[in-house]
Amino acid sequence: MKASLIAFVLCLCLLSCKNTKTEGIILEAYSPDKNIKVDFNVDTEGKPFYVVSYKNEIIVDTSYLGMEFTNANALKSGLVIEEANIQTFKDDWEMPWGEKLKVENQGTSLKIRLKENDSIEAQRKLEITFKIYNDGVGFRYHFPEQNNWTEALIKDEHTEFNLTEDYKTFWIPGDWDIYEHLYSTTKLSEIDAKSYIPKTNLAQTYIPENAVNTPVTMVGMNGLHLSFHEAALVDYSGMTLKVDTMNLNLKSNLVGSENTAYKVKRSLPFSTPWRTIQIADNAPDLIESDLIVNLNEPNKLGDVSWFTPMKYTGVWWEMHLGKSSWDYGMEMVDGKWTDTGKAHGKHGATTENVKNFIDFSARNNIKGVLVEGWNTGWERWIGFEDREGVFDFVTPYPDYDLDEVTSYAKAKGVEIIMHHETSAATQTYEKQQDTAYALMQQYGMHAVKSGYVGKIIPKGEYHHGQYMVNQYNNAAIKAAEYEVAVNAHEPIKATGLRRTYPNIISREGLRGQEFNAWAGDGGNPPEHLPIVAFTRMLAGPIDFTPGIFNIKFDEYRKDNQVNTTLAQQLALYVVIYSPVQMAADLVKHYEANPEPLQFIKDVGVDWEESKVLNGEVGDYVTIARKERGTGNWFVGGITDENSRTFEINFDFLETDVTYEAKIYKDGDNAHWNNNPLDISIEKIDLNSTSKLNIDLAEGGGFAISLIKR
Ligand code: NOJ
Ligand code: CA
Repeated sequence: MKASLIAFVLCLCLLSCKNTKTEGIILEAYSPDKNIKVDFNVDTEGKPFYVVSYKNEIIVDTSYLGMEFTNANALKSGLVIEEANIQTFKDDWEMPWGEKLKVENQGTSLKIRLKENDSIEAQRKLEITFKIYNDGVGFRYHFPEQNNWTEALIKDEHTEFNLTEDYKTFWIPGDWDIYEHLYSTTKLSEIDAKSYIPKTNLAQTYIPENAVNTPVTMVGMNGLHLSFHEAALVDYSGMTLKVDTMNLNLKSNLVGSENTAYKVKRSLPFSTPWRTIQIADNAPDLIESDLIVNLNEPNKLGDVSWFTPMKYTGVWWEMHLGKSSWDYGMEMVDGKWTDTGKAHGKHGATTENVKNFIDFSARNNIKGVLVEGWNTGWERWIGFEDREGVFDFVTPYPDYDLDEVTSYAKAKGVEIIMHHETSAATQTYEKQQDTAYALMQQYGMHAVKSGYVGKIIPKGEYHHGQYMVNQYNNAAIKAAEYEVAVNAHEPIKATGLRRTYPNIISREGLRGQEFNAWAGDGGNPPEHLPIVAFTRMLAGPIDFTPGIFNIKFDEYRKDNQVNTTLAQQLALYVVIYSPVQMAADLVKHYEANPEPLQFIKDVGVDWEESKVLNGEVGDYVTIARKERGTGNWFVGGITDENSRTFEINFDFLETDVTYEAKIYKDGDNAHWNNNPLDISIEKIDLNSTSKLNIDLAEGGGFAISLIKR
């Protein structure tokens, strides 16, 4: 792997720079294309700072770096540069599954070793490494092994991003417990995260500061696009960014715990996650950026061919619609869930219902079936303080025959996707994991959807603090031992760890489709996904669960609907990336609409290449993806509440090949609210010289399958 490393080491002995004035930047390093420059120095008080320029303009001005501890003096001033080196690296790699096969990983690293100048404590050392790519910058702190300092209790990290423009910003509040908020679009100077508090009605939420969660994306007057996030979040707290609206400054604010004065506890040596800045001239390039995955370590699991990307159906949407329920109607008797004859008859996960999904999936080129509500405990899953011990993840309800269902599925070439709702009772889940994953292995199940609804138990912990980061990561590492891939809901944010642990296949971590079924505010507005594509999706795969055909579902809930057209629901299979992609609606709604269903049947889930054909943050986006194995292409485009016409150029297709194109687009009278089901489907031949004008309705979209002739 290191064979490709270009050895270019510049060892600078910079002891002489002690007490350098802030003028006179000492260290600088460039991206391979020279567009991005990072400068680093310590000021006259020994405070480390960095500056980022893009195409000769400063975009992150003098921004200080430092750490504060509960068990030691802060490390943010009185530092000198002891040593620095600059290297270029080229370390390309392949995704086992993903948006693309080959990932280019090329950049320049600038590593600085800082030392305390004159401290009463032993002179402590701190390293800061920048990696500068053509698509952005990542940097992190490293605490090397050192005498007299073995444990860091981090009170807070003081990382700044001092911005130079009042950007148009797409943000959600820095909630310590959930990311399921609608995005706001405001100027940076107008961010008001606390304005979310009164309108938030979630099972858990805590917004302590005027801070935002990441990725947070910004667009400048001259078209500069920035997105701030983090990579490789391991054994550390999630970072929110506190907003100084006066000075246009973002400052790290780590998620804490009510149980400790510190926010992170680590033994030395250790590294923090990477703090990342994606930099692009346009919105599509943000999506094409590989910065976040590149900053993670290579695959530690080795062969992961036991998991294959798949589309799936399942017992899910019907519960969110209120048609059926997760629980069966059991009672706890002498500490055991017991069928006391009070079954209410609405239980969704029955053997018969699941067989129906298996049959439908087998007929329609869909490999998985998710079954939620199959195990005992759902009578007490939310709304109770004492949620430990409620679920055991191995005991099915009486009307669900696990043996029968799994062997039936197997005979039809379908795989059951396991569901583990933990209700955030972390100790029960931790204790049960081996047993639960072993059961899956016994039944040949290779994917689990997990859930963490509710306030974390133990009390005082938050979903995004160090305690939970470790819970999520350790669950995935343990699951891998049993050849199980994990799709967590109410998760910690994605930070590219899927490169290191490819079995972290997907996650929620945003307002998903479920909000359209029941949210009191009317669900996700049409602009939601054109924002998500350039914010949340930059972090990694999303289990959004698209494909609702019965968009108004008045027979279930009169006051709710999906706020897109049917054509947009199809487009989402291409626009949103995930190696598990749900066809979320009920079987009968698909069977009533075989023509649009054909797209879900045909569409790929694993890509050799992805190209973002157009896009503006919050307005629209079109993505083309080439399926691995077949070389067929699929295109999806979506718009917000505005109708638009796109000219699509098919020059990404292989030359001299004719493709049979099936185009699913909004009908002439389509509109997300007034006429969402109006869809037009046509078949034509296309090749790499073709161009097409496609009209998208308000809240609409289009999907195209391009099958090689
Ligand atoms: C919340 C998840 O996001 C949803 O998909 C799931 O159905 C429920 N929790 C129950 O686990
Ligand atoms: Ca959720």
